[in-house]
Order: sequence, then structure tokens, then C-alpha cells
Amino acid sequence: MGARCPAVACGALALCLALAASTNPGFVVRITQAGLDYAHQQGIAVLEKELAQLKLQDISGDFRIRHVGKVHYELSSRDHGSFDLKVENVYIKISLKLGSDASGKPTIDTSDCSTRISQVRVRFSGKFGWLYNLFHSAIESTFRKVLESKVCETVANSVRSDLQPYLRTLPVTARIDAMAGIDYSLVAPPAATAQSLDVDLKGEFFSLAHRSAAPFPPLPLALPPDHDRMVYFGASSYFFNTASFAYHAAGALVFEITDAMIPKGVDFHLNTSTFSAFVPQLEKMYPDMLMKLRLSAPSAPFLNIGPGGLLLRPVVDVQAYAILPNSSLAPLFLLGLTGNVSAVIDVKSGHVVGSLKVGRMKLSLKQSDVGTFQVRTLQSIMNIFASSILLPRLNARLDQGFPLPLPDRIQLSKILVQFHQNFLLLGADVHYQPRGWR
Ligand SMILES: *[C@@H]1O[C@H](CO)[C@@H](O)[C@H](O)[C@H]1NC(C)=O
Ligand SMILES: *[C@@H]1O[C@H](CO)[C@@H](O)[C@H](O)[C@H]1NC(C)=O
Ligand SMILES: *[C@@H]1O[C@H](CO)[C@@H](O)[C@H](O)[C@H]1NC(C)=O
Repeated sequence: MGARCPAVACGALALCLALAASTNPGFVVRITQAGLDYAHQQGIAVLEKELAQLKLQDISGDFRIRHVGKVHYELSSRDHGSFDLKVENVYIKISLKLGSDASGKPTIDTSDCSTRISQVRVRFSGKFGWLYNLFHSAIESTFRKVLESKVCETVANSVRSDLQPYLRTLPVTARIDAMAGIDYSLVAPPAATAQSLDVDLKGEFFSLAHRSAAPFPPLPLALPPDHDRMVYFGASSYFFNTASFAYHAAGALVFEITDAMIPKGVDFHLNTSTFSAFVPQLEKMYPDMLMKLRLSAPSAPFLNIGPGGLLLRPVVDVQAYAILPNSSLAPLFLLGLTGNVSAVIDVKSGHVVGSLKVGRMKLSLKQSDVGTFQVRTLQSIMNIFASSILLPRLNARLDQGFPLPLPDRIQLSKILVQFHQNFLLLGADVHYQPRGWR
């Protein structure tokens, strides 16, 4: 955040720091030494390619020959003949400056570069080759100076025109579906420690139709010092709870169950004849009519993450209706449904996917338009609706998952999933696929 404050607006530095301190990330990406080594390897491979294509401008210089005096030479692309150039031991020291811009995208630039080439050997051939070869050491020293400056120029160019655009493929806002998106913008410039590079992201879901601030703040997120994977993702409970909040705000947490949805193998229908076994008065009041259940969450389900896993205790309202012959709905009763739901989390093709498991559910009668009845007798039939209709549909959606913040052409392997107090930790190794691969 400090880096994002424009210099003029930043009259009081202390104010900026205070702001920065209050912005806990909802999502942290940690690149470990193993990940940095891998990035380094990939970077060297790209640089080697660029340096191999290095074009030297015309080189000219003077050297003195005893008894002859000063000799001026010019090597240009018009020159007839050719030469072999051998460069040994190129040491390049590059310092990169990472930051974030106003849109929360990462930025990168070269802040320092120095090169040392231990030896340059030139051997000329062609008409005047013999002549040049006499003075190769003077020419070599000019070559070395030119090359040394060229290398840093190439590095700086490559950082600006390859690395910077590549980093900006990081999706800082990822649209997930018609209803919601994720804000993965950087809340602070990346922070380097002795062991890793940490990137703090907002990590917040939002409703596309009406984005509003989540009514709860992100808690501090302290990743464990694990380092056997190249990258770790810390997804806080804040991150998941904003998902719940956004989908609830978008009106997505409403689900209707009709008779047509009952699986073939299940031997009953969603109608008043079936339900009169539990609510006898239905048979007289609404004889032989189809029914409909409308499930909705009165508030966004709150989710907890702890060492034991990811747990939800959603409160679901189940409104039952009889469908009258003229298709209008007659309200029958309203049930409150609570239960413990746990989630299994995995990573598939750069997406976090989940599947829910529902434990025993508890029913309560919130309202009845058909008089009293024993709610507990509905327990088993409601369990069937939840486990064979609602859950498979929810899990099919969760199986599409949501994208992790990854720049283009990155594949993850050796996925690790761990639950910690208040956050989910995902670890992975990274494989970068250069452009043109399939
Ligand atoms: C209601 O369900 C029962 C059995 O579950 C079935 O025999 C009956 O035909 C159904 N009635 C309607 C209107 O679907
Ligand atoms: C449908 O039928 C019910 C009862 O027969 C009646 O009260 C209701 O007004 C009707 N609705 C419409 C839209 O005709
Ligand atoms: C859900 O879990 C909590 C705590 O683990 C427990 O007290 C409660 O009885 C459980 N609820 C149901 C419906 O199993």
C-alpha cells in the first residue's frame, strides 16, 4: 500500500503506514527458495536465447603499432570476411524491483545490473583476417566493453518487454461465473524475506451485480515455514466467507426441488399423498397434488477453517408448497434445517475445487399453514432430498471450482492441502510451459 500512495497525497508518511497495517490480505502467495530457483532457471534460459541473438553495432577503435603509429579500424556489417567470437564466463548481476500499481497488478523493473566477462576471443578470417588477427587483443578488449554494456541493455529490455507483460497476466480480477468474481489485486508490493517472496492479495469474492464491502475483516494470516514446495497459497476463511457473502447477495443461494428432480431409483413422489404419511391433514386439505420445496439461506452461511478441516453450519429455510390445479402455490409449512457440513478440497487445473459432505441434520418447524405435526418424522425424507438432490448439484458446481491467482502457462503438480487455524494452505510445484507448447 505504501508504494501505491502517490508522493503528493502522502504528506504524512505515518498515515500511509497506518493504512497499510490495517490491510490484512485475504489470500497470500508465497514463492519459496525452490520456486525462486525454478524462476531463475527459466529466466536464464530466456536470457541465453536473447543473448545468443545479440547484434553488435559497428565497432571501431584505434590502436597503436610501434613504428607505424595509430591505426584506426572499423568493423561493420559491410566488411568482407567474418570472424568467430568466443565469450567465456559471463557474470551477470541483476537486481529486480517488484511493486504494485494502482490497479493492484504486479510491476517489475531492473533496478541494477552489472556484467563481467572474463574473456573474449576473436579470430578473423577473410581478406584482411591476418591483419586483424595481429591486433586481436586490442580488438578483444573493445569487444568486451561493448558486450558488457550490451548484456545489461538486453537484460533490461527483456525484463521490460517479456517479464513485465508476463507478470501482468496475473488475473487481478477473475470472473468466476455470471454472478461473482474474485479480486486478487495486490494489497502491498511483494515482500522478500531471506527464504521466500510473499505476495499479499486482497483475496475477496464479490457479486458482479452489486459489489459491497464484506461485513467482516480479514484476520492476519501467518503461513507456516514449510518450504518443500515451490509455491504456497494461503486462502483465509475471509476469502471463503466473502464467497458465501457474494453468492448470497447475488441471490444464488436459493434452490427449488420439484417432483421431476427426484432420481429414478427413489420410490416416492414429491406430492401431498406421500407427505400425508407425516402430515396427515394434507390428504384432506390438498388431496393428491404435487408439491414443491424452496430452499434458501436467510443469511450467508458462515464458514470456519481449523486444523480439523473446513466446516460450515448453514441455516436453511425449507418452504413447502402444494401446487394447485391452476398452478398457483399454496404455502404448507416452513422448516428450519441446520446441520454440519464439511468440505473436501483439492486443486484441479489451477482451480480450487471442493465437495461437501453433510452430516446429520436437525429440523425445526418455523411456521405451519396446515396445523401441527411431528416434524421429526420428516427427518429421513429431508435427508434423502438433501443427499440425493441438493448435494450432487451443489458439488457439481463446486467441482468447477474457482481459479487460483496464476499468471499464464503455469501448471501445478504435487498438490498439498492442509488446514490451519483460519486458513487453508495449498502447496504445489510449478511447471512453466513456454509459448508454443501444447
Ligand atoms: C403421489 O405419489 C404416489 C406415490 O408416491 C403416487 O402413487 C401418486 O400417483 C402421486 N400422485 C401425483 C399427483 O403425482
Ligand atoms: C387458484 O386457485 C385457488 C383455489 O382454488 C384460488 O384461491 C386462487 O385465487 C387461484 N389463483 C389464480 C391465479 O387463479
Ligand atoms: C455439529 O457440530 C457441533 C460441534 O462439533 C455439535 O455440537 C453439533 O451437535 C453438531 N450438529 C449436528 C446436527 O450434528
